[in-house]
Amino acid sequence: MCGIMGYVGPAEAAPILIDGLQRLEYRGYDSAGIAVHDGSVVTIRKAEGKLERLVALLAESPPSGSTGIGHTRWATHGPPTDFNAHPHTDPAGDIAVVHNGIIENFLALREELGEKGSRFTSDTDTEILAHLIADEYEEDLLEAVRRAVRRAEGAYALVAMSRKEPGRIVAVRMISPLIIGLGEGETFLASDIPAILHRTRRILVIENGEIVDITADGVRIETLAGAPVARETLEISWNAEQAEKGGYPHFMIKEIFEQPDVITETLSGRIRGSSDVALEGVGFPEGFVAGLDKIWITACGTAYHAGLVGKEIFERKLRIPVDVVYAHELRYRDPIIRPNSLTIAISQSGETADTLAAAELAKGRGSRLLAITNVVGSTLSRISDDVLYTRAGPEIAVASTKAYLAMLIGEYLLTVRMGRDLGRYTDAESAEMIDGLRHLPQAAEEVLGRSEDIARLAEGFAGADDVYFLGRGVDYAVAMEGSLKMKEISYIHSEAMPAGELKHGTLALVTRGTPVVTVLTQRYVYDKTVSAIMEVKARGAHTIAVAYDDDGNAAKHADEVVRIPRVPDSLSPVLSAIPLQLLAYYVAVARGHDIDQPRNLAKSVTVE
Ligand code: G6P
Repeated sequence: MCGIMGYVGPAEAAPILIDGLQRLEYRGYDSAGIAVHDGSVVTIRKAEGKLERLVALLAESPPSGSTGIGHTRWATHGPPTDFNAHPHTDPAGDIAVVHNGIIENFLALREELGEKGSRFTSDTDTEILAHLIADEYEEDLLEAVRRAVRRAEGAYALVAMSRKEPGRIVAVRMISPLIIGLGEGETFLASDIPAILHRTRRILVIENGEIVDITADGVRIETLAGAPVARETLEISWNAEQAEKGGYPHFMIKEIFEQPDVITETLSGRIRGSSDVALEGVGFPEGFVAGLDKIWITACGTAYHAGLVGKEIFERKLRIPVDVVYAHELRYRDPIIRPNSLTIAISQSGETADTLAAAELAKGRGSRLLAITNVVGSTLSRISDDVLYTRAGPEIAVASTKAYLAMLIGEYLLTVRMGRDLGRYTDAESAEMIDGLRHLPQAAEEVLGRSEDIARLAEGFAGADDVYFLGRGVDYAVAMEGSLKMKEISYIHSEAMPAGELKHGTLALVTRGTPVVTVLTQRYVYDKTVSAIMEVKARGAHTIAVAYDDDGNAAKHADEVVRIPRVPDSLSPVLSAIPLQLLAYYVAVARGHDIDQPRNLAKSVTVE
């Protein structure tokens, strides 16, 4: 999720690198750096904070050289500091690397290299790559990188240069994106097209498992196994604004479509074997989980809805009572929070004022505090005893989508970890859960593949005055999030409720044509939820159900059925949320609203 930039050519590299990084800065990064090669020396400059700090540093002592790599960091391993900023080098300073993504076997590699005498100057997994490449180096950077990446597992993009080979950059793509820009006698490299679009529109997209040899004269692409690859050059016709959105019309839809990769990232490196989970940053003391009386979950907005799913899962699997309380309520409630408790504060930004206050209060009453947050080094992460980072990458649309899904994944991982500690998961049970989690990116891809059906469905909503979302158990939690998405960006009045509550009041509001969306995935309450569909249908509602592919009954009850692939019922929220995000999006587009910045709302609410 970091920004990467590279240049080889006749010009001074530093200004070109900075200019490219500036064009990626709209996503919000926490540190930046460049490495520039002048033919004999590699000069590195890096700085914590916004890019302007690096720019100021460069102004004091501009590095010269016409080969260079640059990076804006969005921290995953280690807080945003000068020493964790990229580029990183091997101890001799011969190999410089920048990197995006995660090296899963980073701890094992760090130990292995440490035994051979390597000493590290940062907390990052990236530095390991520089050491690995140096370890493999025999006068040919391409071969050294090729051998090094065979030892590194994970989803990442890696860019390297060697002091001994000026005018050459080598890059590898393992899932995280990389593109090449072809100029006249110069070549550019970037993680994202907007970084270089104003320099060239001739782009090569690097695919997974490919290694690229980059010089001023052009590029040579090979598979990691060594087979040459012929890649067609794309002529990009997007303008700069379209490019920032990856060709999508809005950040929100781009972020919705990033969700399969986000699930992969959040799971990455955390699954051990077939049935266990290891969470770096979560270090419960021996016996802590067994001694827990209560779990509190506190959050606001979408994060609160992720907490509602968490309550269902934790209680069902761990058999520990869970209370989910809005942070703005908890902080003034004088809650009975006791030491034998765990408080889970969930926040995409880690800066929401109410969530921070509630978290502090819980901690002050002796509860252990665990943060689920997307921003490394955020205030919430710093005040918490344990931190589970969600790795959704920068989220720009105000209406949260990918951060929500990543929060759910974090909760599932935590459930398995704690369930194992409690002995509530046998190997077979956790293997089933882990298998289900591993399958989710592919299943989410399938849901997204059906987005056109949702777009068609949305046409029927555009003129609605009210929409209702129903469900039971986790389906109700997802209904809450679907309803929030709908009201946030479509400005249609929307309410979610447990399906059984409808007849106690809200049914009075259902009239002919009112859209009612029911999430219908939980077998244990399936028939009960169907009864609610029948109740609204009898009042003329237009009924839509979100149901599994193999649910043959749903179409008998609802007017329209939105399908999701079959997964274990406990995991269904990850999939059932996606059509509701898409529905809100397409309805808002049909109504002509500002999708990414809805009226009156802010991405991060840092005041009370
Ligand atoms: C704002 C945003 C929501 C978000 C909520 C909590 O209201 O518009 O999208 O869910 O804050 O933010 P947090 O960063 O704590 O998750």
